[in-house]
Amino acid sequence: MRSEDGYRLLVQGVRDYGIFMLDTTGHITSWNTGAQRIKGYREDEILGQHFSVFYPPEDIAADKPARELEEAIREGRLEDEGWRLRKDGTRFWANVVITALFSDTGELRGFSKVTRDMTERRVADEALRESEERFRLLVHGVLDYGIFMLDTTGHITSWNTGAQRIKGYLEEEILGQHFSVFYPPEDIAADKPARELEEAIREGRLEDEGWRLRKDGTRFWANVVITALFSDTGELRGFSKVTRDMTERRAAEQALVERRRLLSHLVEAQELERRRIAWDVHDDSIQAMVAVGMRLQLLAGRLPDEHHELVEQLAESVRASVGRLRGLVVNLRPTTIDQHGLIPSLTGYLQDVVAPTGLKTELTSELAHEPPTPVSITLFRICQEALTNVHKHAHATRVEITLHSKDGGTLVRVSDDGVGFPDPAPDDPYRHFGLLEMRERAEIAGGWWSVASTPGNGTTIQFWLPTAPTQEL
Ligand SMILES: Nc1ncnc2c1ncn2[C@@H]1O[C@H](COP(=O)(O)OP(=O)(O)OP(=O)(O)O)[C@@H](O)[C@H]1O
Ligand SMILES: [Mg+2]
Repeated sequence: MRSEDGYRLLVQGVRDYGIFMLDTTGHITSWNTGAQRIKGYREDEILGQHFSVFYPPEDIAADKPARELEEAIREGRLEDEGWRLRKDGTRFWANVVITALFSDTGELRGFSKVTRDMTERRVADEALRESEERFRLLVHGVLDYGIFMLDTTGHITSWNTGAQRIKGYLEEEILGQHFSVFYPPEDIAADKPARELEEAIREGRLEDEGWRLRKDGTRFWANVVITALFSDTGELRGFSKVTRDMTERRAAEQALVERRRLLSHLVEAQELERRRIAWDVHDDSIQAMVAVGMRLQLLAGRLPDEHHELVEQLAESVRASVGRLRGLVVNLRPTTIDQHGLIPSLTGYLQDVVAPTGLKTELTSELAHEPPTPVSITLFRICQEALTNVHKHAHATRVEITLHSKDGGTLVRVSDDGVGFPDPAPDDPYRHFGLLEMRERAEIAGGWWSVASTPGNGTTIQFWLPTAPTQEL
């Protein structure tokens, strides 16, 4: 077999490329299997026809076939992508290379034409381009997050609206810059940007919170996630970086912590003050009045009958005042908590203060531990306010208090069978402090507080305070 025959067989057998020859005027002089498969013509149908039959009308109108041959002659070859026609009139997206063939003496002998059907690849490319475009638009429009890309060395290659909003740079200002411009000097000195990229490569991603710089030099508190991007073959392609401005949240959190701290000081100070007043009233006023009462009693015994009655009455009203002062002392400072613990104090309060108002009371305790005294005082205070409310607002006949040890703390429920909360709810919360104070006390102690009420069906206050167990009951 001559080598020429070898080439002929090879070309004719190729299926993926249409390979054929044109004479100097553009008429087809050879055809292969690939050309038949792509264009649909058999060899005997197409030989001798002009190759412009493959071009759609708009290209014919623009004289494209002739111009392509001219350019191939001028440049030696020509590459083009565009729509071409099959025999059945359908279009396909073709990649075409036309090569001008010259003899040794430089005379034009004709052209070779290699055509590939790129329709599928074009569809796939198009789909990819579209989905990339969609993602690009999506990422670009995000406002709350700064989302941008870094190349393998940390230079910025894309930017979005959120990044612009948070950091203050326009896209054209920041593209190409190194991302370390966002870091404050102390981080640069500690080589933090480079270390973060290294960690992202090692671990796949890195999350960090810290101060970053805006374009105008002001600082913001950022939450940052850097993700290393690898190609299918495992090669590092760059990084994506997602940044959130947490300044406001951080400030709000700090304000809350600060408020809690102040409130807890306030409550502590209030308890101290109450205790001091309670001691004063107890040690001073009550002792003095008890003494006055006893003297009056003695005096009454010695006086003539006509004065006896009057002094008895005075002694009685002194005794009654002493009783009220003792009640006040108990209210100011449930001293019995220190001595006897929470449950006896609550029982005492129910008997001495609540029962006399005509309410039936029931106390159920399933406490596994005695809470520490400060926690017991808070528990007691919240119960006290809840019970005062029942007395003042509920028109109830009975009230039930239950205490459980639960989740490392104490769960308390105070339920009445009264009228429930007025509907609509009491308007001005600043004229009513009881509910607010109960909630604050519970939250300051690290717990929670809630109220549930149905009109006509009573009210239940529930709260939970964490308690480190101090001693077994
Ligand atoms: N157990 C209850 N039954 C029915 N209504 C209640 C009950 N507890 C509270 N309320 C309603 O909720 C309102 C707010 O209660 P809160 O304890 O905050 O204020 P207050 O008792 O009116 O005033 P204070 O500041 O003296 O406590 C009450 O005015 C009352 O209308
Ligand atoms: Mg109240």
